[in-house]
Order: sequence, then structure tokens, then C-alpha cells
Amino acid sequence: MSLDKKLINEIIRVTSKAAIACYKFVGKNDKKIADKAATDSMRNEINKLNINGEVVIGEGELDEAPMLYIGEKLGLGGNIELDIAVDPLEGTNFAAKNLPGALSVISVAEKGNLFNAPETYMDKLAVSKKIPFDATDLDFPLEKNIKNIADSMNKDLTNITACLLNRPRHQKIIDKLNEMNVRMKLLSDGDVSGALMVTNDKYNVDIFLGIGGGPEGVLAASAIDTFGCKFQGRFLFENDKDIQRAKKMGIKDLNKKYELKEIVKGDSIFCATGITTGDLVNGIYVQDNKYITETFVTHKGSNMTEIVVSEDTIKT
Ligand code: FBP
Repeated sequence: MSLDKKLINEIIRVTSKAAIACYKFVGKNDKKIADKAATDSMRNEINKLNINGEVVIGEGELDEAPMLYIGEKLGLGGNIELDIAVDPLEGTNFAAKNLPGALSVISVAEKGNLFNAPETYMDKLAVSKKIPFDATDLDFPLEKNIKNIADSMNKDLTNITACLLNRPRHQKIIDKLNEMNVRMKLLSDGDVSGALMVTNDKYNVDIFLGIGGGPEGVLAASAIDTFGCKFQGRFLFENDKDIQRAKKMGIKDLNKKYELKEIVKGDSIFCATGITTGDLVNGIYVQDNKYITETFVTHKGSNMTEIVVSEDTIKT
């Protein structure tokens, strides 16, 4: 079974509207307000669709977040049963500070096909499809992954680029990459976009790695699936609350390394609309009394990987 192509435009509309709602709060130095605007809009718009949806990755659990919580039912109902993963504002700091890279992101798949990810960190690895599948692995030492990539691409280590979040927890990785003279792309935030850098040569990233949000990992994986690139992830649990939550979600082996095909199955649609201009897409701009939005779209069923430009008339 595949998802109706009609749904693509509907989902583009959802992330575009959320991005526009958030745009009003860009640069206002308040990430909560920006996030709330995107979240409220996203929930409203999804609720207008003829779908029977359930949030599998959202803005937290029922007791913490009133909107788009995990398990929330969305849509007008009907026969189209969907799992929905949302990150209405990915890059809250970017939006609050008016910096590049804020996105509004969704992934949908048929019911039961998107991983129900806990709100914990995930150790991730994403690699271009040009690298042989077995050349890299989350469990290989960093040096081995980098050397295998260099060998398979016939490149010097100095011409390999690794993308990762710039965090103290990655200091050892950063030191090792320095020692190997590997080029780095160090992100201040935004690892959905970071992981997607392996999908196209134009981004000049050979490997994405390191620890970031688990939900962001699942979202990125769904887009990466359409590109046929490699993605692996392992959840990291910091405390007993996280462990109990994961067990409640049905995760038995807490140390399991997940392959892409275990994270997203079957058909999926991924949309990421730019709020502020970043590596992936341009942010919102105004032209002739219209908001112009750019959305990075993938649809597995039709092999669609496109940047779609949309317009939305500004109501006065
Ligand atoms: P928010 O949009 O929720 O602020 O997340 C931004 C982000 O950089 C994600 O892209 C990433 O997965 C996560 O934060 C990393 O978390 P931390 O800042 O704790 O390292």
C-alpha cells in the first residue's frame, strides 16, 4: 500500500502554514512563543485533513504538552490511518535569534510504520548512498568509518567532511577528526537538517554522526529512506524515568542499534519548510503581498525528492 499523492500537497500546506505562523516571532528572542505558534498552527491544519492520524513523535507527553503530544489523535477521521511525527519548530534558537536553519518538519507513514521514539538522545550515523553499505557502522570506531569512506571514494582524509553538532559531549570525536585532518561541519543546532546533508553532493558532507535528539533522528531517517542513503541510530537513556518511558513504549532492548528499515517502514512523506534560510531550504520571504515558502519534500512511494515553492496570500 502506498500513500495517496494528494496527501503530499496537504502536508506541504501543513508545514508551510506552521512556518508562516512562526515567522511572525522570528527574531523576537522568545523560543517558547515561536514554538507555540508553529505547534498551534500545525495542529489546526492537520485537524482539517480527512485522516485518522496519531502523533507518534510530538511535543512531549500528555502531562507535559497540551498540543501534539504523543498519542494525540488528529484529523477529521476516515479510512486513511496515519502515524505522524512532528517537529513544528526544529531549531527553536534559530527562530528566536533569527539565525539560519529554522524549519517546520513533519513525517507521515501508514499506521504502525513510523517508530514511536522516546524523547531521549540518539547516537546517529548517516552516510551517502555512494558509500558501500557495509563500509560504515555505528559500532565501528570513528577512524574505521572515516578511512572506509575515504577509501571507497578514493579521496584523501583531508577531503572528507563529517557533520556533527558542536557539543562538549562530542569533544573526543572532534579531537579525533582534527587529528585525522578531516574537514568538519559543526552545527550549533539543527541535526534533522545535518543528517540530510548526506543526501546530495551539493551539501558536501560525507558522513553525519554523533548524538542528538531521538525524535529528530526518526524524522531525518524518514527522508533519508527516500534517498536510499544509510541511517542507523541507538537511543541513549540518561535516567530511570527515560528507561521506564522507553519500556512503556515497547522498547525491550535498550541498547539496540536500529537500522533505517526498523525506524521507518513502507511509504512515507516528509516535509520540512524553511522558516529562516538555511542549508536545506530558503526561509520565508514576502513578495507581492504573499508569503513565499520553500519545502524540502520526499515521498518514498513515488521516489519524489524535491524542493517545492508555495505561495500564501497575506490576509490583512
Ligand atoms: P530544538 O528545536 O528543540 O531547540 O532542537 C534543536 C536541536 O539542535 C536538535 O536539532 C537536536 O537534535 C537537539 O537540539 C540536540 O539537543 P542538545 O541541544 O541538547 O544537544
